[in-house]
Amino acid sequence: MYNAKITAFGACVPKLEVTNFDLEKIVDTSDEWISQRTGIKARRIVTDETGTDLATGAAKQILEMSGKAPEDIEMILLSTCSPDYLTPNIACMVQNNIGAVNAACLDVSAACAGFVFAMSVAEKFIKAGTYKNVMVLATEVISKFANWEDRSTCVLFGDGAGGVLLERTEENTGVLCEELGAKGSGWEVLGNGHMPINNAFNNAKPLTEADTYVFMDGREVFKFATSKLKESINNVLEKANVSKDEIKYFVPHQANTRIIEVVAKKLKVDLDKFYLNIDRYGNTSSASIPIALEEMKSKGLLEKGDKIVISGFGGGLAWGTMLIEI
Ligand code: COA
Repeated sequence: MYNAKITAFGACVPKLEVTNFDLEKIVDTSDEWISQRTGIKARRIVTDETGTDLATGAAKQILEMSGKAPEDIEMILLSTCSPDYLTPNIACMVQNNIGAVNAACLDVSAACAGFVFAMSVAEKFIKAGTYKNVMVLATEVISKFANWEDRSTCVLFGDGAGGVLLERTEENTGVLCEELGAKGSGWEVLGNGHMPINNAFNNAKPLTEADTYVFMDGREVFKFATSKLKESINNVLEKANVSKDEIKYFVPHQANTRIIEVVAKKLKVDLDKFYLNIDRYGNTSSASIPIALEEMKSKGLLEKGDKIVISGFGGGLAWGTMLIEI
């Protein structure tokens, strides 16, 4: 019986840091409003980098840490909801950039929950014995879809990429338990990038540039996130027969500090056990969890045997929670 274990971490964010004070010059907002409502102080925004560039940066760091040659990578599985092209997928372009010529390449899309879904798919390939390793990446350039005249959404998001290497182990460790889910009836609550019908026979209402923008009912997302995160984390821990006390860190999708505070309170878990870096990166969608993991690893917060819970939620409405032993 094979299990899948994280053996390397990587992250890459754009050069440009945009603070709340910078945004005050663009839209009618304030550092005070953004900080109090979201916990965000700054975010990274691309100037000339693509999602592929950021994912390539994360992939190179993963390769270096793992000590593997690019040819050793058997699969690249990448989460994004802000692709550079609809096709080719970003995984193929990363494969080319790092020389991972033997890797099968697949992008998955589950919005901000996408990294947890990608981890789950990767784990299945490893568990089934198909691959001994899978590089799992997430890269997002949500700034492409932000309406920079809409203060209610543009202040929330940032760009970035991160990832891990999952490898086969015969030890009883690594990915221990998970829950994935979706509530499709809530699809209109959060999304971006509506694609037009564009053919010679088109008689649909023409789309405008605004249709590509992020759309969001913030209050509904808030309600969904706070209830689903709590429920999903409880479900996974119960299924795995692991207590909250055994968890060293909860690593939730970094969407809003207030969401995480509410969830910590509902779960009766000290907020200190929730890793937070949203103040510096904003909401980087599916990249937020792997960016956090890389940061935690480089700060020495993740040691062999530590149990952590990663939990993502977002457009779909989709969610995913995974219990991992490092
Ligand atoms: N700066 C200043 N004022 C702002 C603003 C901004 N950036 N954005 C909105 N406002 C104003 C609104 O216009 C409104 O003004 P009004 O009362 O005069 O009409 C007021 O602030 C309150 O807006 P509201 O949308 O009700 O605020 P809120 O308390 O619900 O907070 C969010 C808004 C977006 C921070 C909050 O709903 C949220 O975090 N939701 C979850 C979003 C999320 O996480 N999305 C991604 C999930 S993956």
